[in-house]
Amino acid sequence: MMGKIEILKTDITTLAVDAIVNAANSSLLGGGGVDGAIHRAAGPGLLDECRLLGGCKTGQAKLTRGYKLPAKQIIHTVGPVWYGGQNGEPELLASCYRSCFAIARSHNLRTLAFPAISCGVYRFPVDLAVKIAMRETTAELKRDDAIQQVIFACFDEAVYAAYLRAEKEHSLGVD
Ligand code: AR6
Repeated sequence: MMGKIEILKTDITTLAVDAIVNAANSSLLGGGGVDGAIHRAAGPGLLDECRLLGGCKTGQAKLTRGYKLPAKQIIHTVGPVWYGGQNGEPELLASCYRSCFAIARSHNLRTLAFPAISCGVYRFPVDLAVKIAMRETTAELKRDDAIQQVIFACFDEAVYAAYLRAEKEHSLGVD
């Protein structure tokens, strides 16, 4: 099951998977960070489709085509802004991962890549975010074998290191 998880230090826009996940904002009309990179690489068709979606609530997700990306589709999810952790932030981040997996299952998307949702300008503590991402992903892979591969695409070194630590702890059976 852990064999279906891959941790890569890479730009998510280069990955030829069934769907990459975008860490968007609730307007779904683009922004900075990974969202900006995805819109730039996908081209203007993406924004046209996003305009029809009516935004997205925090913790939820919506699907578009991939346009010029090597990925076929894009699952746009809106992570929580970290306000200290007493405002449901961990549960909302878990909900992002669950919503993405639910869309993947219902659209038969078997290979996925996630960025570190909320770990940039939304300031979510990286170790906690990684723990939630790993927990939700292993739960999904245990529950259902529709999904064949989950890549965690790490853009910065701190996120990459946190994923490698979490993977090691997982393989040692430490929670
Ligand atoms: N590939 C993979 N990961 C990336 C890439 C990339 N090309 N570029 C950045 N990252 P952020 P958030 C990493 O800020 O915290 C946007 O303006 C980055 O290093 O993109 O969820 C949206 O429109 C970090 O580890 O997303 C929202 O307004 C991670 O992606 C807001 O930012 C997430 O950082 C969402 O904030």
